Amino acid sequence: MILNKSGQNSKPLNLLFIGDIVGSYGRAIAKQVLPEIRKEYAIDFTIANGENSAHGYSITEKIYLDLMDNGIDAITMGNHLWEKKEIIPKIAVFEKMARPANFPPGVPGKDHLIIDFAGLKIGVLNLLGRVFMQCMDCPFQAAEKLIPKIREQTKIIIVDFHAEATSEKCAMGYFLDGKASAVIGTHTHVMTADERILAGGTAFIADVGMVGAQDSIIGMSKEQILKRFITQMPEKFEPVDTGPGLFNALFLKIDTQSGKALEVKRIFRVVEPLFPEKEEGKK
Ligand SMILES: [Fe+2]
Ligand SMILES: [Fe+2]
Repeated sequence: MILNKSGQNSKPLNLLFIGDIVGSYGRAIAKQVLPEIRKEYAIDFTIANGENSAHGYSITEKIYLDLMDNGIDAITMGNHLWEKKEIIPKIAVFEKMARPANFPPGVPGKDHLIIDFAGLKIGVLNLLGRVFMQCMDCPFQAAEKLIPKIREQTKIIIVDFHAEATSEKCAMGYFLDGKASAVIGTHTHVMTADERILAGGTAFIADVGMVGAQDSIIGMSKEQILKRFITQMPEKFEPVDTGPGLFNALFLKIDTQSGKALEVKRIFRVVEPLFPEKEEGKK
């Protein structure tokens, strides 16, 4: 609990941000690892990127509810958002899911979240990059428009910048330094080692990584992706559901009054294969 006896926030907020959860294996890994991480870091609030949670592409209502049942408090998305078209008519149901804010105006879904938690308000913003990505509205302008609106209610703001280019992500970190508690890169599924707190108090990492099969190419089948690179022919990509499990996340300690980051730490954990019977089948 964050509130003290006088109802004021006295203790920093311990927040966990989990990288792109890939497929059922990623969900199973998260389910297994989360209780232990939560205990180890005394986590108060958990956010996860769910853009690959439904067999590598987007999310479904069932998976959204399952992630919520497993202690995830908010979900961000990315370029795979609409690949399960079934979510389009019911996206309003996904109350704690932020979709990228820089889609064209009028697109369904929440362009930011403000979640009430233990007497605090936690703002969540998801943005898509434009370098080596599909055409989008400007993420910097979207941030410039929405961050002041969120700051009217809270200084605790977590930004998931879902982008390919590290330079674009670094630029967003500096752009929002002092305006957000953290700018966290997602999308490449490969964790970078550049986590730090910028001069204005914003925690930053270019990419937090993923949760999924380690023996894979960004969570997907090595064979399928290799075939595509080698032949340049169309190929279906499917998530891997065997072998060691990779859990990548970022731990943040945030001052609840100022919204500034006090601590940032990468979590890179590899667990034993989850389903031994499937490992037998691989031989
Ligand atoms: Fe992803
Ligand atoms: Fe992505």
